[in-house]
Amino acid sequence: MPISLVVILLVLFLGVSLQTSEALDPFACDPEDGTSRNFPFCQVKLPIQSRVSDLIGRMTLQEKVGLLVNDAAAVPRLGIKGYEWWSEALHGVSNVGPGTQFGGAFPGATSFPQVITTAASFNATLWEAIGRVVSDEARAMFNGGVAGLTYWSPNVNIFRDPRWGRGQETPGEDPVVVGKYAASYVRGLQGNDGDRLKVAACCKHFTAYDLDNWNGVDRFHFNAQVSKQDMEDTFDVPFRMCVKEGKVASVMCSYNQVNGIPTCADPKLLKKTVRGRWKLDGYIVSDCNSVGVYYSQQHYTTTPEEAAADAIKAGHNLCLDLDCGPFLVQHTEDAVKKGLLNEAEINNALLNTLTVQMRLGMFDGEPSSKPYGNLGPKDVCTPAHQELALEAARQGIVLLKNHGPSLPLSTRHHQSIAIIGPNSNVTVTMIGNYAGVACGYTTPLQGIERYAKTIYQQGCADVACVSDQQFDVAMDAARQTDATVLVMGLDQSIEAESRDRTELLLPGRQQELISKVAAASKGPTILVLMSGGPIDVSFAENDPKIGGIVWVGYPGQAGGAAISDVLFGTTNPGGKLPMTWYPQDYVTNLPMTNMAMRPSKSNGYPGRTYRFYKGKVVYPFGHGISYTNFVHSIASAPTMVSVPLDGHRQASRNATISGKAIRVTHARCNRLSFGVQVDVKNTGSMDGTHTLLVYSKPPAGHWAPLKQLVAFKKMHVAVGTQQRVGINVHVCKFLSVVDKSGIRRIPMGAHSLHIGDVKHSVSLQASIIGVIKS
Ligand SMILES: *[C@@H]1O[C@H](CO)[C@@H](O)[C@H](O)[C@H]1NC(C)=O
Ligand SMILES: *[C@@H]1O[C@H](CO)[C@@H](O)[C@H](O)[C@H]1NC(C)=O
Ligand SMILES: *[C@@H]1O[C@H](CO)[C@@H](O)[C@H](O)[C@H]1NC(C)=O
Repeated sequence: MPISLVVILLVLFLGVSLQTSEALDPFACDPEDGTSRNFPFCQVKLPIQSRVSDLIGRMTLQEKVGLLVNDAAAVPRLGIKGYEWWSEALHGVSNVGPGTQFGGAFPGATSFPQVITTAASFNATLWEAIGRVVSDEARAMFNGGVAGLTYWSPNVNIFRDPRWGRGQETPGEDPVVVGKYAASYVRGLQGNDGDRLKVAACCKHFTAYDLDNWNGVDRFHFNAQVSKQDMEDTFDVPFRMCVKEGKVASVMCSYNQVNGIPTCADPKLLKKTVRGRWKLDGYIVSDCNSVGVYYSQQHYTTTPEEAAADAIKAGHNLCLDLDCGPFLVQHTEDAVKKGLLNEAEINNALLNTLTVQMRLGMFDGEPSSKPYGNLGPKDVCTPAHQELALEAARQGIVLLKNHGPSLPLSTRHHQSIAIIGPNSNVTVTMIGNYAGVACGYTTPLQGIERYAKTIYQQGCADVACVSDQQFDVAMDAARQTDATVLVMGLDQSIEAESRDRTELLLPGRQQELISKVAAASKGPTILVLMSGGPIDVSFAENDPKIGGIVWVGYPGQAGGAAISDVLFGTTNPGGKLPMTWYPQDYVTNLPMTNMAMRPSKSNGYPGRTYRFYKGKVVYPFGHGISYTNFVHSIASAPTMVSVPLDGHRQASRNATISGKAIRVTHARCNRLSFGVQVDVKNTGSMDGTHTLLVYSKPPAGHWAPLKQLVAFKKMHVAVGTQQRVGINVHVCKFLSVVDKSGIRRIPMGAHSLHIGDVKHSVSLQASIIGVIKS
């Protein structure tokens, strides 16, 4: 063997052995540990169920109790290490949970836009692609020993009230959009490998959790009064889609009570609905310390042992499987001693958590199970991942107003730009909450500097904007330059976890600064709004000096690049608002604590979201314009659709038809859908991306929403061309409405489909023959 080859082999050998010595010991079933590797629970070839029962059978009560909490204890006797269940990955691997630490070989991770921004893209492909990238980075960090495999994301609560501080974390106010987002993001995170999980996602917070701290009421004490009707057609929808379509591995129950019962101790919600009806294949976890909260703050039980017992089983029904917080480790043994709980019930909880750990490969005896074992630092913050963060921000930006049109700016006519406002050169503001450490940032100022010369003036010291001291220099800058861009809005000091807003207007003197700068400005003035929740900017919408308004949400690490690409027209914006922008009046007399979605004539209650609220808005749900124009027409759609009744229900047919709305459970829903072909033409002067939003308006009746989204589809349409898209409308899912008892029914008669300003009527008729006429 030539010497050089020996050297090469030696180097290779050393390299390999260096790598293995650096690699972490496995979580369990270490092949180098002669005892543990032979346990049946370590045998990869055995079915997971038998491995889990074998493991449970070997543990003492004390060892089992140690596994009921997020900071799960080691079982050294069986070669099992401790595990921290709590990691977060809302829009990138986050450092919010104790399971994840940045630093060393993992200084940062790709920080995607906050979810409300990504939702505005209405692009389910993008949502899943982001989930895939985040789980690559999560696996890489797990392999490096600095992150877990169980991620308590996404947040799929409905953005019910515009003041909610955590609305930014959600995909908005429409249950179907939120549910679709949940299913797509979860699929991206969990991978597509049968029973195996890439990482385990978690849909939270179940349920009716969308108030943090408002007017003296906080989430730890709030009892949400929710009607059966709103539960079925609003609050349940995203969770149901997450479990049934996304096949999520976990659901988290919330801090609040629903109709007098803490959600984490409510067998009707957890056992009957999540496990029974939706068939969750996974574990249920409490929100952090919520078991402790319902004992010590809500006084739901008189002893801590009763609280512990209720968490694991209420009555004879099993509830949750894992406690985020120490409560169950402290009180479960005593609960067993007092006879409030038995060991079999604890076994059941462990069955659910251990199964997920097995599906993650944690008992396969490798430090990092295949096929993700090779992911490492080189797979985090890659150029491709960072490019997707930029792409997501571009797709999520919403053009609200373009008077003139003033936008896009041009590098020829706008060679100097005044950039004014407290959010002009921000970094962490752009990633919102439940974020991690970004790979790096492009601020709005840095983005715009790539296109033009800039004069930067903060205008206000921060978003609270209490002083007008810097207004004059800001106005001077606007007088001197070819165009003015104001980057204003909110940040986590105004809207955050534990911090709901009290009003919808811009904070402090921001409005005054904007108006004065616009009045002084030599060229066009563009207002860029950074915020999670909606803002009442009617003054700017009505000010002819303000040419353009752009909402960017919290656009993530590459936000500034995306903003400048939109302002200068290298990106044609195609985002749409995922929530209604209400005027300030809307909230003046509206308690955040009133959960009702539907309006009430008797007390003037206005109702919530575009589905039920008829009053004035600043911008409606779905609003968002483009630099080009799109024209819709319907190419084909049925005018009549038969709804076949289930054979053995024919006896009750007369009753249901005379009620004018057939119970969904009485209809043959399988394959009961129809297609609609829509032509979308780009009649403007620029290529663009269009989001087709298809709504249905059910026949009038007291339970029906004004309209509801039945489908959305995003498409590129080149200038001067036309695209035909097919939309499939599932009758039982999307044309049904929910009655006062929470029963889903299909109203017979004329349903109107709305696509842009095109309307089309489809008549639903009950029939005994299962044929769909068109
Ligand atoms: C803008 O922010 C970046 C990143 O924090 C910083 O490096 C730069 O100095 C800031 N620019 C100005 C003009 O303040
Ligand atoms: C349904 O109503 C029709 C007309 O009123 C009646 O003749 C028929 O017997 C009823 N059928 C059932 C199954 O009740
Ligand atoms: C949706 O997002 C994906 C991933 O970024 C992208 O490739 C695709 O072009 C987007 N679709 C549209 C119509 O914009």
